[in-house]
Amino acid sequence: MNKKQMIVAGVMSGTSADGIDVALVRVGGPSHIGFELLGHAAYPYPTRVRTAVLAAMNASRASVADLARLNFLLGERYSDAVLATERQFRVKVDLVGCHGQTLYHQGDPQRFLGRKVAATWQTGEAAIISARVSVPVVSDFRPADMAAGGKGAPLVPFLDYMLFRDTRVGRIVQNIGGIANLTAIPAHAAASDVFAFDTGPGNMVIDAVTEKLFGKPFDRGGRIAASGKVIEQVVNLILQRGFFKKRPPKTAGREEFGRDFADEFLRSCRGCPKQDVVATATALTTKSIADAVRRFVVKNPNSARKRAFHEMILSGGGAKNSTLVAMLASELAPLGLQLRFSDEFGLPSGAKEAVAFAVLAHETWHRRASNIPSATGAMRAAVLGKISYP
Ligand SMILES: Nc1ncnc2c1ncn2[C@@H]1O[C@H](COP(=O)(O)OP(=O)(O)O)[C@@H](O)[C@H]1O
Ligand SMILES: [Mg+2]
Repeated sequence: MNKKQMIVAGVMSGTSADGIDVALVRVGGPSHIGFELLGHAAYPYPTRVRTAVLAAMNASRASVADLARLNFLLGERYSDAVLATERQFRVKVDLVGCHGQTLYHQGDPQRFLGRKVAATWQTGEAAIISARVSVPVVSDFRPADMAAGGKGAPLVPFLDYMLFRDTRVGRIVQNIGGIANLTAIPAHAAASDVFAFDTGPGNMVIDAVTEKLFGKPFDRGGRIAASGKVIEQVVNLILQRGFFKKRPPKTAGREEFGRDFADEFLRSCRGCPKQDVVATATALTTKSIADAVRRFVVKNPNSARKRAFHEMILSGGGAKNSTLVAMLASELAPLGLQLRFSDEFGLPSGAKEAVAFAVLAHETWHRRASNIPSATGAMRAAVLGKISYP
């Protein structure tokens, strides 16, 4: 193996709280930006764990003892996931990059006890992972960007820029996880031309209403939505909200589109057939994406000049929802955007974020900065994360 190459396990668990994604990536080497995906696997949380994670995220009050225990429990689960993936692909890793499970994220400073502070919290004890897997672990990627004045998110644009920039094609890289976020990479972009933001709900509202009305964790394949009719007034009314009008950079989480939002959404659909509610939640995702593209990407809010974007590249669990994908394609057609999948670029849509944290960990290990200040709003580049040694 080339001395400069490393095999890194990227570990991601997103706001959907569906489980753990692990990607094994060979990073570095002669071409520097080159990397190779050696394998990836997903480990759904057992129902009890998912319920506990969701409860911790949604809670206005939680037991400190339970939160402390959850941190160590997730550390064990992340370790098991990395070790199982190593066995499956017969690969031994040199380094782990673990995002952790976000319990709280508030990217903008707000007044608290007399001072303005921004705050974020990812749980999943890295010291446990490091001890179990016997390699160093980079974790807690977001705070360093926030300390530099950024929103701590999004961080995946580093990988998006590395992978999807093109001299002639302007690309919007759209991930649909619990939350939906995009990275806009104009043709021939420098890193400082890249901008990124959360467009709003991804699968989070769809999951919540599907669970409530059909007792299923998600709308597999988008089949329920396909059998329903979109209630346009509900979507249009929600799109008037402050979040959607706010200029990027902006981030969202369960704080904006979690349980309270889902309850309100259900109330505004009261009396409609159940499948229409799921169809409407699906349309909320696709229309809010198209709306964000129209308002903030295709038209540059800082000048009257239009920017040329040609493709949208889709990743995340939402790419498996055919109804969502079909709705999105028809929203994008009038904008002249062709819908493509990250899989076409050798990056399976479910593995992208895990790959990103492998690449980010590799940068941190070499003490290189990896936030993109134009995406997070940070005042400077920052080396992200903390390192635990076995
Ligand atoms: N086969 C599928 N059909 C429809 N939706 C799916 C499918 N597989 C995954 N999803 C959706 O994707 C979500 C998980 O996406 P993911 O990218 O892992 O999000 P996160 O990063 O928030 O964990 C699930 O909660 C579900 O809503
Ligand atoms: Mg997930």
